[in-house]
Amino acid sequence: MGTSLRKIVFPTAGMGTRFLPATKATPKEMLTIVDKPLIQYGVEEALAAGLGEIVMVTGRGKRSIEDHFDISAELETNLHAAGKDDLYKTVSHVARMANVAYIRQKQPLGLGHAVLCAAPWVGDECFGVSLADELILPEGKSAMQQLREVHEQTGASVIGLAPVPDQEVSRYGIVKANDENGLLRLETMIEKPSIDEAPSNLAMIGRYIFTPRLFGLLKDTKPGAGGEIQLTDAMCQLAAEEPVYGVVVEGARFDAGNPYGFLLANATLGLQHKEHGEALRTALKALL
Ligand code: UTP
Repeated sequence: MGTSLRKIVFPTAGMGTRFLPATKATPKEMLTIVDKPLIQYGVEEALAAGLGEIVMVTGRGKRSIEDHFDISAELETNLHAAGKDDLYKTVSHVARMANVAYIRQKQPLGLGHAVLCAAPWVGDECFGVSLADELILPEGKSAMQQLREVHEQTGASVIGLAPVPDQEVSRYGIVKANDENGLLRLETMIEKPSIDEAPSNLAMIGRYIFTPRLFGLLKDTKPGAGGEIQLTDAMCQLAAEEPVYGVVVEGARFDAGNPYGFLLANATLGLQHKEHGEALRTALKALL
C-alpha cells in the first residue's frame, strides 16, 4: 500500500527545564552536537525519508530556530566576498534545504496540544512527528525512513521504539505490543510507568507517523499527567480504534534533551569528526 506521506511536525515549544540554565534564552533544539544544532539533524533525517513539508510548533523565545533555516543575506554576502566558499555553501544550504512553516503554541500545554496546533496545516493526511532532542544517527536507513516503510506497507500509524534497561522505563512512554504476522501491533501505551506497571521495556523514542484520526482524538483529550494534554493518551485511544504498529528503530540514539545524553552525543560525534576526531581521541585518553 503506497502512501504520499510528505508532512512532518516538529514540536519545539517545550520549556527544556532539564537543561537549565542553558535553555533559559536558547531553545533546547538549538543546542549543538559538534557544529550543528539538534533541530538540523532532525530536519535532515526527515528530508532523507522524503518528508519535505515541515512545520515547527514553536513558542516564545524560539525565534533562533526560524532564523537558522532562513536566508541570512548579509552573512552569505560576507562569506562569499571573503572567499570562504565552504562556509558559504554550508550556510546557504541550511537556508534552502527545506520549506519550513511555523505555528505558535501560545502556552506549553503539553506535547499532545503542540501536535494539535499543527492540525490546520496538516489537514486530512497522514503525517510524521519528530522530537528533535532525541538524536538518532542513521545506520543505513534513517529512523523516519524505517517508520515510513512500515507505514507504506500498512497505511497505518507507526511508532518508533527502542528497548531500554529496566531502570529507565520510568522515564519513557512504554508500549504493550503483540506480534501480528511479523509486525509489532501496539495494544496500548503508558507514560512513565514504574517497573512493576511497565508492560514491556519497549520505549517510544520521539518518532511517529499518524493517521489524521489522531487530531480528532487529541481534540477530546483532557489534560492528564502534569496538567498537560498528553500525546500518549490520544495514542491509546487511536490504538483502541485502529491498528497502530511499532518499529524497533536501528541506529545509535541519544536523549540529547538532558545533559548526559547531550554530552554522550557530542563525544560520539566528536570522535567521528573528520578534522578534530583524532585530536579529541588523544585529548580524551590523556584526561582518562
Ligand atoms: P519534553 O518532555 O522533552 O519537554 O517534551 P520539554 O519541556 O521540552 O523539556 P523538559 O522536560 O522541561 O526538560 C517533548 C517534546 O514536546 C515539545 C518539546 O519541545 C519537546 O520537543 N513540547 C512539549 C511542546 O512543543 N509543547 C509543550 O507544551 C510541551
